[in-house]
Amino acid sequence: MASAPAVSARVGSARAGSSGPTVAELLDFVRRAAEDAALIASLPLDPEGRTWVRLDGPGGSEAWLIGWPPGAGTGWHDHADSVGAFTTASGTLKEHSLAVRLPTDGWKTLELNEGVDRSRELAAGQGRAFGQNHVHEVLNESDSVHAVSVHAYYPPLPRIRRFSRTGAVLRLEQTERPEDWQ
Ligand SMILES: [Fe+2]
Repeated sequence: MASAPAVSARVGSARAGSSGPTVAELLDFVRRAAEDAALIASLPLDPEGRTWVRLDGPGGSEAWLIGWPPGAGTGWHDHADSVGAFTTASGTLKEHSLAVRLPTDGWKTLELNEGVDRSRELAAGQGRAFGQNHVHEVLNESDSVHAVSVHAYYPPLPRIRRFSRTGAVLRLEQTERPEDWQ
């Protein structure tokens, strides 16, 4: 892996539970998995949509190998109380995120302040970790190259909040349980 991973400043500081893995441990796991060429090659790829295989993450975390055909994306969402990490194993992913702490519950729309948008490109070997309530969307913007990535979350995904975004207005659309998650 030639390039140095881009790592969130929060690595090592966020811990979701007293007995769970740290985000640094999750990031270490996804990096190692992304370097496992046989594992990455084992993921079936579909030009029509994302594909995924569940992995055993460290310390009871939930981990996934995900394939992203050109143009695939998640839409805006967060992982509620879970912390996590992900690393691109092949291809390139784009992450758009919000540098803002959202109220956890009791709201339907929020107007975002200027300057909260962040964007980063994660080429193969690059990853990031994130804390609770990290709002983001992940995309494969390539028009020709599949991407594969490895993700880990702890606690195992309790819920996913999905948002729509119109300009500065973020709207909570639905809350999904792990079984709804792709
Ligand atoms: Fe996510």
